[in-house]
Amino acid sequence: VFGGTSSGKLASKVAEMGSFDLGKTEIRKFPDGEFYIRILSDVEDQDCVLIQTTRTSDDLIELFLLSDLLRDLNSSEIHTVIPYLAYSRQDKVFKEGEALSAKTILQLIDKFSDSITTVNCHFFDFEGEFEFYGVRLKNLDAFPLLVEYFNGKLENPVIISPDKGALECGKKAAEIMKCEFDCLEKERVSDDKVIMTVGTLDISNRDVILIDDMISTGGTILEAARILRKEGADTISAGCVHGVFSYGTAELSKILDNLVCTDTIQTEVSKVSIAPLIAENLNREN
Ligand code: R5P
Repeated sequence: VFGGTSSGKLASKVAEMGSFDLGKTEIRKFPDGEFYIRILSDVEDQDCVLIQTTRTSDDLIELFLLSDLLRDLNSSEIHTVIPYLAYSRQDKVFKEGEALSAKTILQLIDKFSDSITTVNCHFFDFEGEFEFYGVRLKNLDAFPLLVEYFNGKLENPVIISPDKGALECGKKAAEIMKCEFDCLEKERVSDDKVIMTVGTLDISNRDVILIDDMISTGGTILEAARILRKEGADTISAGCVHGVFSYGTAELSKILDNLVCTDTIQTEVSKVSIAPLIAENLNREN
């Protein structure tokens, strides 16, 4: 198991949990910002797993360089695990002339991989294998691990999805926690501004858990938390699988009682690790 810089810690955990060898690399940057990549382990005729989340464009370049190098070094198979798949929100042509970025990125990753696994892919709601523009990928579900974090921690919990897109994961979370569930109505007015209206459930004096697949700018969760405070929620927590946090976590932490994400992207609030999910999946496939 090899980890790129964005998933080094996660790769170590996966290797330990699954009793896999952890591959050694030397990765650094040249003064101009380009990557220097070297694989120090012998990979000839070995099945290799490369774990690299793609929060930034640099993460993608590193992924391409590492996977192509594994091939050059005659590894047998290359299984790419991308905990957070970059550009997954541009999975459709919403306006004429737009780039279908998710397709382009996945087709490039596919060139260097024998299999691709991701976690809670933004444009695919289910666990399992699916195809997207000729690329086969496997989607793992980290929601059970995320929701388990909250289980038993709150007195009067209720799960709220901040929008229709997060409806299914909210319902699933409520089932796991055996608690009530509601959904807010969201209208996006710009990249980082949304307008929201409350659902039908009375949330006064309840411990609200906002559940979403990702927090990016934080606009959605901030607006939801503001409204829920007005409605009299006792405590407000937010849990997401992917903590992109484009604007950091400071504003979110001010309004929320607890902010939690997984380590699909390593952040200061990655309180849940997806390592068991990945290790189990690799062991199942072996
Ligand atoms: C929307 O489809 C997603 O489920 C999230 O609600 C959204 O991507 C979060 O974005 P932001 O944090 O920028 O509001």
